[in-house]
Amino acid sequence: MIPRSPCWLSLALAFTALLQQYGLVKGDADIESVRIHHDYKDMSGRGGDPKAKYWHESVFHPHYDGRFTNHTLPYEEQKANLSLLMQSYLASMSDIGAETWIIHGTLLGWWWNRKIMPWDSDIDVQMTNTTVHMLASYYNMTIHTFDISEDEKKDYMLEVNPKYTDPSYGDTLNVIDARWIDIETGLFIDITAVRPHPSKKGIMCSKDQHEETVRDLFPLRDSLFEDQSVKIPYNYARLLTQEYGNAALTKTEYSDHRFNSTSMEWERFMIQAEKGDVQLRYPDGSIDEEDGDEEEG
Ligand SMILES: *[C@@H]1O[C@H](CO)[C@@H](O)[C@H](O)[C@H]1NC(C)=O
Ligand SMILES: *[C@@H]1O[C@H](CO)[C@@H](O)[C@H](O)[C@H]1NC(C)=O
Ligand SMILES: *[C@@H]1O[C@H](CO)[C@@H](O)[C@H](O)[C@H]1NC(C)=O
Ligand SMILES: *[C@@H]1O[C@H](CO)[C@@H](O)[C@H](O)[C@H]1NC(C)=O
Ligand SMILES: *[C@@H]1O[C@H](CO)[C@@H](O)[C@H](O)[C@H]1NC(C)=O
Repeated sequence: MIPRSPCWLSLALAFTALLQQYGLVKGDADIESVRIHHDYKDMSGRGGDPKAKYWHESVFHPHYDGRFTNHTLPYEEQKANLSLLMQSYLASMSDIGAETWIIHGTLLGWWWNRKIMPWDSDIDVQMTNTTVHMLASYYNMTIHTFDISEDEKKDYMLEVNPKYTDPSYGDTLNVIDARWIDIETGLFIDITAVRPHPSKKGIMCSKDQHEETVRDLFPLRDSLFEDQSVKIPYNYARLLTQEYGNAALTKTEYSDHRFNSTSMEWERFMIQAEKGDVQLRYPDGSIDEEDGDEEEG
């Protein structure tokens, strides 16, 4: 279609198409062109991963993309960057017209205070298979610039796993259908597609083997999350208690944090080393004798 018209624009378009095609044939993103830290070594687990696995999480942390960073961030920086990651995702998907909603631990964070839980770097969202297909067709490997403030911007990349077309639970190496990636810090959001279950009526399923009823998910509700408009599943309370139990909605202490119902924030215990001992000290000054090392994905 393009080569017919002789003007320079057509040539430029044809050239671009050729480059894109080359990119697809190669089967790997031209990551070098979007990397910010060119001096960092590639820390993705590529070498050790099975061949059929599309994503290569970093060798040092499962929730950092080793193509873009070689280290995790300190607590406050990670928290702030995760918040921006979420904001940029919700704003960009809304601009594109891609319907998406929050789920799992991210939905639990919404339940408590409309924010990501500060100890949780595993950010989960869902969308329908049709939407993932749309993103795969038009937005794979696109860079989206998010305005943090008038003079501060940050770039994010959308990447779609080509194996999204195979919905089977058997494809255990590729349960994440797409990712929204902060190309500066390597933090990312896991996007999973929900599809009608092949045999169970009224059930939607994703490749990570989570199953939700259509009636628990839809119609989606409007709310706010990290100060952005967000969609949440219709029956969020049932989904949360099913997945995490009633205690998750009431227990105000978790993973070295205590929920402050005045500030509506999860506050981290201050860790103080005294005479070689590590103690957990709450913001109000009380001390916890327990070992607070439990971790949650
Ligand atoms: C990350 O890469 C930079 C540049 O090569 C290097 O100076 C730094 O030590 C690396 N950090 C880690 C944790 O490997
Ligand atoms: C995000 O992380 C970077 C380090 O890569 C840090 O310089 C920056 O301050 C963090 N952003 C915020 C908003 O804290
Ligand atoms: C997205 O682009 C990458 C890099 O070119 C490619 O490896 C991947 O297969 C593409 N995904 C889809 C769904 O086409
Ligand atoms: C998901 O979408 C892809 C692309 O349109 C299609 O090949 C696949 O059959 C769909 N899967 C389901 C279960 O709807
Ligand atoms: C809870 O937050 C309020 C308001 O920020 C603060 O005054 C109070 O000290 C906090 N409570 C605890 C136990 O830290």
